Amino acid sequence: MSQTDAIPHGLPMERDAGPFDPPRAVTRLRETRPVSPLVFPDGHEGWLVTGYDEVRQLMADTRFSSRQDLGVVHVPYETPGMPVQTEPSPQTPGLFIAMDPPDHTRLRRKLTGAFTVRRMKQLEEHIAEITERQLDALEKLTPPVDLVKEFALPVPSLVICELLGVPYEEREGFQANSAKFMVKDVTLEEKMAAFGGMTTYIAGLVTRKRAEPGEDILSDLARDEDLSIEELVGIGFLLLLAGHETTANMLALGTFALLEHPEQMAELRADLELLPAAVEELMRYLSVADIFYRYATEDLELGGETIRAGSTVVVSLLAANHDPGRFENAGELDIHRKARGHLSFGHGVHQCLGQQLARVEMRAGFAGLLRRFPTLKLAIPAREVKLKTDMNIYGVHELPVTWTDTAE
Ligand code: HEM
Repeated sequence: MSQTDAIPHGLPMERDAGPFDPPRAVTRLRETRPVSPLVFPDGHEGWLVTGYDEVRQLMADTRFSSRQDLGVVHVPYETPGMPVQTEPSPQTPGLFIAMDPPDHTRLRRKLTGAFTVRRMKQLEEHIAEITERQLDALEKLTPPVDLVKEFALPVPSLVICELLGVPYEEREGFQANSAKFMVKDVTLEEKMAAFGGMTTYIAGLVTRKRAEPGEDILSDLARDEDLSIEELVGIGFLLLLAGHETTANMLALGTFALLEHPEQMAELRADLELLPAAVEELMRYLSVADIFYRYATEDLELGGETIRAGSTVVVSLLAANHDPGRFENAGELDIHRKARGHLSFGHGVHQCLGQQLARVEMRAGFAGLLRRFPTLKLAIPAREVKLKTDMNIYGVHELPVTWTDTAE
């Protein structure tokens, strides 16, 4: 298939169809050619995959390699002036999201026990307590307040810091740096500096834990002599980044989406039993982690197209999750739908390790907010909410909210 009709674009794009819908151009591509040629801003050619079946098939196939420099955080062609990537980048130790089997398998296995459904069930009560404490603090503030700063970010941050054994008071040292990884237009130098800052911090932490392990996930890993300090740093970096940015955006954007669908919000508030299914639907509908990259290690067929070895392939999980071929009225939020099967946690060997944790956090977070803030509403017009179209993980920069009373 000729690539002369390839569309030029930078990713992620403006949400020109509304804050919760895929960009119009992406929807059009899914309708006309779910595996489409794509030209990156530097002229380098690749593919964009937008159909549900095609995305799922790609993510299940490790011949589409996950290897890339600094994993989710740095893709060379996004950086003007960088050479085109013609072969997989060297691996960053420990960063298994950007590795293929068997390296990926070896590291991921070390962590599966710490994130099982059973483990997370055991943590449920504790996470609910953390959420309630944060809501107590929120209640004491005089509205309007920014829900991102006061609730959506602190809850997952407190939880992941505690699980990993990272002192929460030290979060400022890495939060500013970790946020840098999420900004689309940050220069390579800035990213490298932020990576350096974070890894220096984490190296100190894991070195202390190796000498004197405590009761936390990083200490458990540090006890394992099979893992080098560099690997511990990479794993710590990945967990800290993934644990913060994704769930926080889901809580804030999810609240915005519910406020924009007041009938469904009222229904949920009246019957919190609906929440687990509603969380799955919010995950599908919002797909905050939208864009992922793969690299074809050989010539591969996908959706009737031939993807040549060496091509970069971009997937849009948002487009896939809004595919009407898979979900009826896919563009609508419907808390009653069976949204299981959505691809928001990915699919295949890299499927999100923290998904059970994220679910527990989201259920506790939305339940607490709905129960304790029955009059919650936006403090600014919806169109003025600042959307994270400039970030690698979608969400809102701020969510100014207000309420009239907090009576329970
Ligand atoms: C992987 C989304 C929360 C840790 C992934 C992937 C997605 C994803 C789509 C697959 C990446 C790929 O295939 O390249 C999300 C969303 C979350 C969330 C939407 C919140 C709502 C978390 C949390 C953690 C976490 C709380 C904390 C531990 C990871 C890790 C991987 C991963 C370590 C890499 C797994 C691997 O490569 O084997 N996540 N995630 N995630 N996620 Fe999450």
